[in-house]
Amino acid sequence: EKGAYPFYMIKEIDEQPAVLRRLVQEYQNDQHEFEIDSDLTDDLLNSERVYVIAAGTSYNAGWASKAIMEKVAKIPTEVHLASEFAYDIPLLSEKPFFIFLTQSGETADSRQALVKVNELGHPSLTITNVKGSTLSREASHTLLLHAGPEIAVASTKAYTAQITVMAILADALRALKSEEAGFDMAKEIGLAASAMESILSERDDIKTWVDSNLMETRNAFYIGRTADYYVAMEAALKLKEISYIQTEAFASGELKHGTIALIEEGTPVIALISGELTSAHTRGNIEEVKARGANTMVISTHALSREDDQFIVSNLNELLAPLAMVVVTQMIAYYTALGRGLDVDKPRNLAKSVTVE
Ligand code: F6R
Repeated sequence: EKGAYPFYMIKEIDEQPAVLRRLVQEYQNDQHEFEIDSDLTDDLLNSERVYVIAAGTSYNAGWASKAIMEKVAKIPTEVHLASEFAYDIPLLSEKPFFIFLTQSGETADSRQALVKVNELGHPSLTITNVKGSTLSREASHTLLLHAGPEIAVASTKAYTAQITVMAILADALRALKSEEAGFDMAKEIGLAASAMESILSERDDIKTWVDSNLMETRNAFYIGRTADYYVAMEAALKLKEISYIQTEAFASGELKHGTIALIEEGTPVIALISGELTSAHTRGNIEEVKARGANTMVISTHALSREDDQFIVSNLNELLAPLAMVVVTQMIAYYTALGRGLDVDKPRNLAKSVTVE
């Protein structure tokens, strides 16, 4: 089923542009507007605050979606770890709405949180890749990721599909609230798909960088600010889970508050820079770690030059930039595990779906 591909992971990475385009089709009506079941949008429009609950990569997708929900649908949005939420429910708003992001729909921690939410009688939505899964059956509403089966243990296309479905949902809510978009969400998702394709075509260059920088190292760092920090969290999870390199994500500005002490001669530090607002400061942080011997790589949408920034991602609407930025980091993880001769699709100690709390 993986055809000519050596591993499912790279096949699933490659499928992402098609998944984004499929989602636009699935959720558009005949007038080419995003249309979501009104029972669901009524519940959301009646609520004051969204609580996204998830684990692992889906949790990271929650963070990447928070700004979309807040800036497009204008609904305050919090993101919580499922494994923490069930034991420490935060002070909730009067009218909360819960969104469970879960590729499998079977994650025990997420389900436990949903059980609590149902006991409290609050409305909920499961966004999942698996129709009829446990969390889908037990939540008030379901939206599907339409990503096709995800076989590799390391999640890739589910992450970008989750962000895309959140963007579609946010845009549908915006339209119902008669808020001005300022941009065409369907078109922007299409541009994100094209940006993914162009970065996918640079895989050989990514592999070359990986082969000379990540084969021997025992640790690595991703840095970024705002949305780039959230992508850094996912990038670090992906690299650590399949390459076994201890990888951490830092908000760039926090480096000097302690973690810069970890930088040594040769430590790989990968910076994510989408958007002009944070560019100057994150570039400053890169200089700081370089001065301490770090091997740096910059992935950006606003490159100064090809020399400074090794990988350039098309300049997208800032809210959707994570969709393309993350693909570079997925390939970094893939080529690192491949180069180290590891079983990319079945990393040690991990299961595709974690059905114990
Ligand atoms: C990481 C990964 C896991 C899952 C997590 C949640 O690549 O696959 O972190 O994202 O176990 O799984 P779902 O989304 O099925 O609830």
